Amino acid sequence: MSNFKVTPWEVTGEVDYNKLIKQFGTEPLTEKLIEKIEKAAGKEHHMLRRKIWFSHRELDVLLKEHEQGKGFALYTGRGPSGNTHIGHLVPWIFTKYLQDAFDADLYFQITDDEKFLYQPKLGLAETNKLAYDNALELIALGFDPKKTHIIIDTNCAKTLYRIAIEIAKKVTASTARSVFGFTNETNIGLYFWPAMQAAPCFLPSVLSGKNIRTLIPAAIDQDPYWRIARDVAPKLGYKKTAAIHCVFLPALTGPAGKMSSSTGAESTIFTTDDDKTVRKKIMKYAFSGGRDTVEEHRKYGGNPDIDVSYQWLTFFEEDDAKLKKIYDDYRSGQLLSGELKQILVDKLNSFLKEHQHKKELAKNDIDRFLFKDKQ
Ligand code: TRP
Repeated sequence: MSNFKVTPWEVTGEVDYNKLIKQFGTEPLTEKLIEKIEKAAGKEHHMLRRKIWFSHRELDVLLKEHEQGKGFALYTGRGPSGNTHIGHLVPWIFTKYLQDAFDADLYFQITDDEKFLYQPKLGLAETNKLAYDNALELIALGFDPKKTHIIIDTNCAKTLYRIAIEIAKKVTASTARSVFGFTNETNIGLYFWPAMQAAPCFLPSVLSGKNIRTLIPAAIDQDPYWRIARDVAPKLGYKKTAAIHCVFLPALTGPAGKMSSSTGAESTIFTTDDDKTVRKKIMKYAFSGGRDTVEEHRKYGGNPDIDVSYQWLTFFEEDDAKLKKIYDDYRSGQLLSGELKQILVDKLNSFLKEHQHKKELAKNDIDRFLFKDKQ
């Protein structure tokens, strides 16, 4: 049961998030800190209340600075190795809340170089093309074009490279091997890669000439990069990056690992899926906490805690009262498994319909979001 593995490249097994906090050396996100975020933000967020964000690094320090009137910038990103699935959207939806609440600039790195280096079969032309598609997915969520800067790595090499070599000079191969598990067989591009992913942590400071702390909202698997970035920050005269970490959206088919495009299309809902496909996948594949027969279900009730449809609603249904009623009705047996699935299908389909429409509109707007490299 407790055999799990979380690295930036791979997540397997049933993740024990408390163990991960210890393993990675991060801090648990306490009730007190959640209250502080919501107070500073001036509004709540359902993902905070539901502990979807569960861990952090120096978020308390960042909030204290914010109280003193010091601003910060947001940084997150995406590796363009394929189509976007709704698991990718989870940290971005929360990032939008942070941008709105704190009026913060967001730097969003799309790593066509990383995916080229890591994926044996992907060419650079392909990853660069996917990068543009992934950018549209982000824009569709409604980010502010004046405050959102999308960095497609190979298009912004001049800006990133200068910061990356400063970082790379302070990181030994031995550190890279122990933090990322690199071996003698790992290509040398990947040995350098952590410096490229750390570079945007310091970009707001480089661009402004001021010392601006960054806050990274991202899934916990990316944390090893922030460990490196935080180690080198004081050596280069920058503030240490702060981070807030989320859990993975569970796979549709069951409670193991993060949802991934590579574990098979049935465990994933893509943002491009049409309503029939969404319905079919959820009805057929969503792991159910229901009983074997309707009679038993009515008599003994279902188990929402292991039911993936219910778990997914905790990510996407914002209304606490609605969610609680679903929980109670499922437990009592009043709500059947098929009915619970239908609630999720309706929720996702209405979200996706709007998202797909906004993604179309984003095609005319993308240029305003792209970070332009220095000439
Ligand atoms: N390495 C990430 C991935 O493969 C992409 C990424 C780059 C990223 N910078 C980031 C993710 C910052 C989160 C935060 O998906």
